[in-house]
Amino acid sequence: MLNIALTKGRLEEKTIELLKKAGVNCDPLLNKGRKLIITLNDKYNIVFAKANDVITYVEYGVVDVGVVGKDTLLEMNRPIYEILDLGFGKCTFAVASPLNVDLFALNKTATIATKYPNVTREYFESLNMDVDIVKIEGSVELAPILHLSDAIVDIVETGKTLKENGLSVIRTIANISARLVVNPASLKLKKTEIEAFSNLLTSKNN
Ligand code: PRP
Repeated sequence: MLNIALTKGRLEEKTIELLKKAGVNCDPLLNKGRKLIITLNDKYNIVFAKANDVITYVEYGVVDVGVVGKDTLLEMNRPIYEILDLGFGKCTFAVASPLNVDLFALNKTATIATKYPNVTREYFESLNMDVDIVKIEGSVELAPILHLSDAIVDIVETGKTLKENGLSVIRTIANISARLVVNPASLKLKKTEIEAFSNLLTSKNN
């Protein structure tokens, strides 16, 4: 059995699509009710979890592999292996601000709101720029509108949320997509199964 954690929400539908294309019967996922672990094709135990938890489960080896966004991987920076770029869930990490704010010419320390404080800290450190970081859990675009922050660091997919809230990208930090991640011990103990699963996803993803 291969134990797999999949990220709920944005990546969920595309991950299931990919599994179906790879010949995995995903019907048990349709009527799962409140059940948290679903077995597919008699060989994959699937759990759905929040992105941070997918990484935690893989790190502790309670699941062997996971599908999670590069954004959360960069933020959590945990000792797990990233073995495949799945090519979907594409977006960018960006700094965005209201049109009237010149973040790099403020006469005070800039305040940045974000769900990703570690990525934000590292980015501004790389610019040698001192900033105050405020952690926000969702709809980060609200922070500059409410004058809590001068700018935000967030993921941008279509750019629609920024546009509709009067913000625009001023710097791009990194490209993001869904990744297949593996627990290092599992990679040794279940090498054949993990490679087969990875190959299955690769062949159907091209
Ligand atoms: C993400 C992100 C932006 C939005 C970007 O939020 O934080 O708010 O999507 O997408 P767009 O460029 O296509 O408009 P999400 O929808 O995951 O919800 P959250 O803000 O509550 O975390």
